[in-house]
Amino acid sequence: MPYALILGANSDIAQCLAYEFARNGYGLLLAARDAARLAPLASDLGIRYKSDVHTLEFDAVDYASHYAFYTRLPKQPDVVIWVAGYLGDSDKARADFHEALNVIEVNYTGAVSLLDHAANDLEKRQTGGIIGISSVAADRGRQSNYHYGSAKAAFSTYLSGLRNRLYASGVHVLTVHPGYVRTRMTAGMKLPAPLTAMPEAVARDVYRAYHKKRNLLYTKWIWRWVMLVIKSIPEPIFKRLKL
Ligand SMILES: NC(=O)c1ccc[n+]([C@@H]2O[C@H](COP(=O)([O-])OP(=O)(O)OC[C@H]3O[C@@H](n4cnc5c(N)ncnc54)[C@H](OP(=O)(O)O)[C@@H]3O)[C@@H](O)[C@H]2O)c1
Repeated sequence: MPYALILGANSDIAQCLAYEFARNGYGLLLAARDAARLAPLASDLGIRYKSDVHTLEFDAVDYASHYAFYTRLPKQPDVVIWVAGYLGDSDKARADFHEALNVIEVNYTGAVSLLDHAANDLEKRQTGGIIGISSVAADRGRQSNYHYGSAKAAFSTYLSGLRNRLYASGVHVLTVHPGYVRTRMTAGMKLPAPLTAMPEAVARDVYRAYHKKRNLLYTKWIWRWVMLVIKSIPEPIFKRLKL
């Protein structure tokens, strides 16, 4: 049975990914900073899909623990999926560096710290893949969320480099740029329906894209074109817009 390691497994998107991979015959290593909260999900996946599910404590910013965490996994993962993320409060981040730092660490440095171990392992085994859930916010800095957007941009650039490095060893890397997704992260926000996905649909898109060995997925697909337009606006005009 192949195994998927999901980091940040209490996220709404992560839980839908767990169902998608379990339905398709994967065992699961579900890692989150409060592993006890994963128990109902783990038992449901076991009952529905006879999936072999393990729950693990994992903190994205506890760098010192990452090597031991990865090397002591109960099963060797075939696919490693980074989902943990922190949007933060953008007004607070402007005034309080600790808020900005947490945004940077959860979305970027934590991912680098863990995925470097995964990349070295998969490269040695010449198999498997890495999926990183980044964001369309990576595509252009905007006044409303540039700490988050710049951390995601760094993450997407890191994944692009990993993909380039690991290609020779047959390890595939998929970068995911979701647009708006209806989850706990966006609870209470007014989101435009045509541009907003449900996490179940995002998980289906991710699973399909990974197995088709796509490199960069926009989900919903329309975001590829939305971001193309946003990226093509000249900076002298862009800086005047309230985005
Ligand atoms: N929702 C959207 O519109 C949207 C759009 C683009 C990209 N994304 C990205 O999609 C991913 C999943 O987000 P979501 O929408 O499913 O939101 P979510 O439910 O809020 O998930 C975020 C997850 O990150 C985890 N996390 C935060 N800090 C952590 C840490 N130090 N260590 C380990 N885990 C930590 C949270 O853990 P706890 O459960 O313990 O709080 C939470 O489960 C994120 O990377 C997000 O940036 C979301």
